[in-house]
Amino acid sequence: MPIVTSVEDLRILARKRVPKMFYDYADSGSWTEATYRKNESDLQAIELRQRVAVDVGSRSTEATMLGRKVAMPVALAPTGLAGMQHADGEILAARAAEEFGVPFILSIASICSMEDVAAHTKAPFWQQIYLMRDRGFIRSLMGRAHALGCPVLVLTVDLPIIGDRHKDARNGLSAPPKLTAKNILNMAMHPRWCMGMLGTRRHSLGNIVGHVNGVASMETLAEWSAKQFDPTFTWTDVQWVRDNWSGQLVIKGILDSEDALIAANMGVDAIVVSNHGGRQLDGASSTIRMLPLIADAVKSKTEIWMDSGIRSGQDVVKACALGATGTLIGRPFLYGLGAQGQAGVQRCLEIIQRELQLTMAFTGCVDISQLSEEIVMPKR
Ligand SMILES: Cc1cc2nc3c(=O)[nH]c(=O)nc-3n(C[C@H](O)[C@H](O)[C@H](O)COP(=O)(O)O)c2cc1C
Repeated sequence: MPIVTSVEDLRILARKRVPKMFYDYADSGSWTEATYRKNESDLQAIELRQRVAVDVGSRSTEATMLGRKVAMPVALAPTGLAGMQHADGEILAARAAEEFGVPFILSIASICSMEDVAAHTKAPFWQQIYLMRDRGFIRSLMGRAHALGCPVLVLTVDLPIIGDRHKDARNGLSAPPKLTAKNILNMAMHPRWCMGMLGTRRHSLGNIVGHVNGVASMETLAEWSAKQFDPTFTWTDVQWVRDNWSGQLVIKGILDSEDALIAANMGVDAIVVSNHGGRQLDGASSTIRMLPLIADAVKSKTEIWMDSGIRSGQDVVKACALGATGTLIGRPFLYGLGAQGQAGVQRCLEIIQRELQLTMAFTGCVDISQLSEEIVMPKR
């Protein structure tokens, strides 16, 4: 068994075990990938204050997100096609999150359907949606989620259209994936992954196929989804979701103070400061750079979470210190999933929690609520 001590170890293992087309899908940003890289490097550039002679004998990483107790302020972000990193990926990741005690957010573009995830887990998952043109479908999807006991809807607003991701274009990643000789050969070189895929019936977008009139196959799905992203949606449509969803609502994909204030004033339960992991507007600021400005603008009107670039417990500490009360991780758990399935996601969470509680000790904190600007070195 390879020794895994960091999220980077999981990434390296996932690169070996997942066919190139799907590994690249996860490990890529849009255009030049500058924002993708900046998310991580801006986090790394922040220096923490080392404090000594503080009693840190008893520490807790527990926190609350939307009033629920969580083992640490980290949720698994919604990620499309997670079931292509590993067979039955969404079910495995949801189980790992449940066992660890952190929230799992299911993407609308998941391979396993929400019914399937609900049938294989006990803890309620949270559901993510995009505002697609077919509002009848979105309404019925919200109804399905509600019927399954899903308490939280996450509406992603930073994808009115899809950013250009060059690796996907080169690899022929589309729905259905282009089965070129090169891709087939590459898949054959990953026998463990192939065996998993042969052993499951879950290969298409489970939340959509069979739930939209006329969409029963990969081909009809491709035709339908190409027309579905809605570049015309506005805050009025966000209000429509608010009015049609009786549970808690989170708006994901905010990167600007003015937008954050609009969302907060609409009475949403949380916002996620996010640039979609650098997959949308290349050239946008990193999320950790925008977080303090947004936190200052919004104050305590709503919960503020952050994602994009978090690769360690130190990064979680930095996000919490600069104004977030929760974080989301995308690629770290996908790497864990691709590397070792459910055990890999579990390992990813263990690594982040261990780094988090050690970093708390070195910065003189025993509780997540103590993480504040005080523990960050001013810029020199
Ligand atoms: C492969 C992949 C697929 C994604 N799919 C979705 C999605 O379906 N819905 C969504 O709201 N965000 C999606 N995201 C964005 C994540 O929810 C999250 O914002 C991002 O991954 C955070 O950055 P990180 O990967 O650096 O942690 C996706 C991200 C990745 C890497």
